[in-house]
Amino acid sequence: MTVNIPTILRSGVRLPILGLGTWKSKPNEVATAVRVAINAGYRHIDTAWLYGNEAEVGQGVRDALSDGTVKRRDLFIVTKLWSTFHRPEDVKLGMSDSLDKLGLDYVDMYLMHGPPGFKGPNIRPTSESDYDDTDYVDTWKAMESLVDEGLTRSLGLSNFNSRQVDRVLHDCRIKPVVNQVELHPYLPQLDLIKYCQSKDVILTAYSPFGSTPDGGNYISSESRLLEDPVVVAMGKKYEKTPAQVLLRYHLERGLSVLAKSVTPARILQNLEVFDFSLTEDDINKLNSLNRNHRYVTWEYSRSHKYYPFDDQPRSAQ
Ligand SMILES: NC(=O)c1ccc[n+]([C@@H]2O[C@H](COP(=O)([O-])OP(=O)(O)OC[C@H]3O[C@@H](n4cnc5c(N)ncnc54)[C@H](OP(=O)(O)O)[C@@H]3O)[C@@H](O)[C@H]2O)c1
Repeated sequence: MTVNIPTILRSGVRLPILGLGTWKSKPNEVATAVRVAINAGYRHIDTAWLYGNEAEVGQGVRDALSDGTVKRRDLFIVTKLWSTFHRPEDVKLGMSDSLDKLGLDYVDMYLMHGPPGFKGPNIRPTSESDYDDTDYVDTWKAMESLVDEGLTRSLGLSNFNSRQVDRVLHDCRIKPVVNQVELHPYLPQLDLIKYCQSKDVILTAYSPFGSTPDGGNYISSESRLLEDPVVVAMGKKYEKTPAQVLLRYHLERGLSVLAKSVTPARILQNLEVFDFSLTEDDINKLNSLNRNHRYVTWEYSRSHKYYPFDDQPRSAQ
């Protein structure tokens, strides 16, 4: 049985509120994960040039298209412009490389992965001399041409703070539909949510489970979100898993959320979040777990003039 995932309609774009994440999904497992997800009802698939797995994500998507499971227009494929393509003359190069790898003619949404630009060829800077100071507003303007050319249906931001979103909104011709940021009870970012909602920009929550243990920036074993006693107890109360509670926490508040898994049973489990509701009290209880903890810190761009997280306290590394 396939689950019908609700959508949010914004600026003519229908965003499915739950998407499959693919960061750190290995090339040899992600095509199957995408296939399992689409069969079960996922339509929103999130990848990025940075993840190095667009070819296999695209393989899973193309398999589902070629055997008639879905039509292209029913899918919502998102990828991201990496920071080494921020110079306006490089933006189309980044987009074309992603489309080639995905094996698609267009994506449904193209996000700027983050505000700081890097010179390359190092994917991530190893020193400040690798920083590029292209203004992300100029990058945005070059991204707008990609919509004109039909290479992406819509545009969005990722890892932008409210000041940075505001600058783009002030100068844009095509409005960002989403800002994709880290959000979970250890980093609720209520001010950023309030700001984006006041501007009609959808917040998409990433790392809802606290990201993957191998690359995650756990403070200690006590900071494993999926094992937090409050989250676990809430799961028992609603007869749901901690993961399902953590997804519902976002959906309940009108946000969209990305859940990464390559495990078929979890991909299915993460879809079973449309048959219960958290009370306002429980949402407040989850918000009160805040410890301003980021799992994804962009530490390598810490001294970049456009480093986004200065106005949001971070935990120690
Ligand atoms: N824009 C950005 O800068 C940015 C940054 C980070 C993430 N993202 C996007 O957001 C997506 C989600 O974030 P994330 O990958 O950081 O981490 P996440 O979704 O919070 O967590 C993924 C981890 O949770 C496990 N998991 C999944 N479902 C589970 C369940 N039901 N029960 C227990 N464990 C479960 C996964 O294991 P298995 O896979 O082994 O099942 C994996 O280890 C990413 O994949 C990516 O698409 C974007």
